[in-house]
Amino acid sequence: MQRGFWDQLEKPIIGLSPMDGVSDAPFRFITAKYGKPSLLITEFTNVEAINHAGIKALSAFIYNEIERPIVAQIYGINPKAFYKTAIIVCELGFDGIDINMGCPSKAVSGNGAGAGLIKTPDLAREIIKTCKQAVEDWSNGKTLEELDLDPLIFQYIQELKKEKNIITERKILPISVKTRIGYDQIVTLDWIKNLLEEEPANITLHGRTLKQMYTGLANWNEIAKAAELIHQSGLKTTILGNGDVKSLEIAYENIKNYGVDGVLIGRGSYGEPWIFRGEHKSLKQKLEVALEHAKAYEKIFGIGEKSFAPMKKHLGWYCTDFPNAKELRMQLIRCNSADEVENIIKNINLE
Ligand SMILES: Cc1cc2nc3c(=O)[nH]c(=O)nc-3n(C[C@H](O)[C@H](O)[C@H](O)COP(=O)(O)O)c2cc1C
Repeated sequence: MQRGFWDQLEKPIIGLSPMDGVSDAPFRFITAKYGKPSLLITEFTNVEAINHAGIKALSAFIYNEIERPIVAQIYGINPKAFYKTAIIVCELGFDGIDINMGCPSKAVSGNGAGAGLIKTPDLAREIIKTCKQAVEDWSNGKTLEELDLDPLIFQYIQELKKEKNIITERKILPISVKTRIGYDQIVTLDWIKNLLEEEPANITLHGRTLKQMYTGLANWNEIAKAAELIHQSGLKTTILGNGDVKSLEIAYENIKNYGVDGVLIGRGSYGEPWIFRGEHKSLKQKLEVALEHAKAYEKIFGIGEKSFAPMKKHLGWYCTDFPNAKELRMQLIRCNSADEVENIIKNINLE
């Protein structure tokens, strides 16, 4: 089993969970700087979109060196598209590849991708196998030129590599899976056994079924059963539990009580990128980071080139738990640029 960076992580592992529309490059940069999680994972990227000249989809693969170890998460149903995307991820210098087998949204799982793969265990295994083959082929010298990529995609990758000065070492990237405990009913042990056949480096398990979406509470007893199975399998695969970890204290408690190697924290990091260190910040500090985040957003995506809309929810999240928070939040979420954020913040009396 190729475990790559997973073997170098100190335990317990406490990482940032991938969140589409949230854990984009600017948020990951800020999280890496102020929270230093054990690892960061990109928002999921559709392998079929990349195959069809989806330049926009590739922007999810922008990262900063301080994010390492940085893992690219990909999703889809077509093994050939997974093969090409896995090679692109290698070329772009990532530390690992995570396959999404947990997304419950209709647009994804309705197509059989994400958590839809829980219903097609053979295809799920074929996808892991294909990604493993791709990273091995790449380590043996496979090139982008051999992939018959759309010229626009090819050019984008070359430009990104040049701009970010990405120099890659042809090592075998570890393949991991992030999934749920079932589709419409709990099938944890059968499903995890199926995945273990392909010996992924890590499995992250969100303790809800697809049907539950994000409702109810994550079932950590099921996560514990999976942890026991994995640890008794004799494989070196690690398991991270996921779901409703809202503080570092809860992370440590769950790791101890449910026997996992670590956790991924998703929504608990909203406006709290320092959650991974168990720190708390004053309003002044939070607003300073909010402004830095807005500036990073413009620097990474270009001023005015990408809508400022995805940034606004972050501004709102930084602005909680103090008197008159709502008023300030309303002002901040109306901003359309980092300059506007700065103007509002500098006029607030923070003493
Ligand atoms: C807005 C949002 C977007 C998400 N996008 C992804 C994604 O791209 N890939 C993924 O594996 N999980 C995704 N998830 C699931 C989270 O990674 C995580 O499994 C889930 O939120 C439970 O963890 P939490 O309670 O710590 O948030 C998303 C969740 C949210 C709320």
